[in-house]
Amino acid sequence: MTRPPKDIEKQEPAGEPPAERAPMTIPRVAEMKRNGEPIVMVTAYDFPSAQVAEESGVDLVLVGDSAAMVVLGHDSTPPVGMDEMVMLTAAVRRGLETPLLIGDLPFGSYEQSNEQAIQNAQRFVKAAGCDAVKLERGGSSVERARAIVNAGIPVMGHVGLTPQTATALGGFKAQGRTAEAAAKLAEEALALQSVGCFAIVFEAIPAAVTETLMERLEVPVIGIGAGPAADGQVLVFHDLLGIYGGRVPRFVRRYAEVREQMVKGVSAYTDDVRHRRFPAEEHTYSIDPEELEEFKRYLEDESLVGTDTPWDW
Ligand code: KIV
Repeated sequence: MTRPPKDIEKQEPAGEPPAERAPMTIPRVAEMKRNGEPIVMVTAYDFPSAQVAEESGVDLVLVGDSAAMVVLGHDSTPPVGMDEMVMLTAAVRRGLETPLLIGDLPFGSYEQSNEQAIQNAQRFVKAAGCDAVKLERGGSSVERARAIVNAGIPVMGHVGLTPQTATALGGFKAQGRTAEAAAKLAEEALALQSVGCFAIVFEAIPAAVTETLMERLEVPVIGIGAGPAADGQVLVFHDLLGIYGGRVPRFVRRYAEVREQMVKGVSAYTDDVRHRRFPAEEHTYSIDPEELEEFKRYLEDESLVGTDTPWDW
């Protein structure tokens, strides 16, 4: 897949040479599993979050349909559509160079037919520069995954808690907590592997179930609330940085409290404007005093008056 030229100025720490990183590839992801190297995945939804992911050295970036909740303010993921996902993903593409970029097929964009699934996967590749796509569930999604893989686009599967069908699962709850449920989950994961998925997300699954399944899976497992045995981990950008004010799932570790900092910053700005402390001298542009005098004379000579506004304030 094409990667746009990078024209973003990066600031390297003084004295340290820039670290060279080769762009991530599907074979390299498989190699990481074979070598037992932990795979790091994070979500991103726009140009600045992509830049952060790039500079933080993550391996995989998912433009998750979690955007519906953490970016667009819905209380579930199904409302987000392909147009919104493509727009967000194209912005992420512009901020990324090294990690593999994965577009998350939203609810309603792949279930209907293999043709629909291939068409939307191709849209992610052509319009947003994705390297791969992700879809949720086993069942009919296995056929869709097979069709997309056969069309030449790498696919990541997703089992366990699948937010697009959370209502059918009884809500945002851990899955695979009985022998029967764990067996169903195993069947789904193995089916996704058999049709050529290059990796599978395990979400909200007992750690012991993941551990038990690991020896049966040849493709990398990326866990989110699935314990430490997974080959890699993924977290939602807004959850890990404390940007999102909504419910924090049990499996999230907060690495920063960015929202707190943002509220602090905007409150300080509000206070400064209200008390006329901003803008200060250094935030203003100057004009040659002679030019200013001439401008004032012009205003007097022309005796300019304001135009009538159409509004009655
Ligand atoms: O939409 C999303 O962000 C996801 C990840 C949590 C895996 O599916």
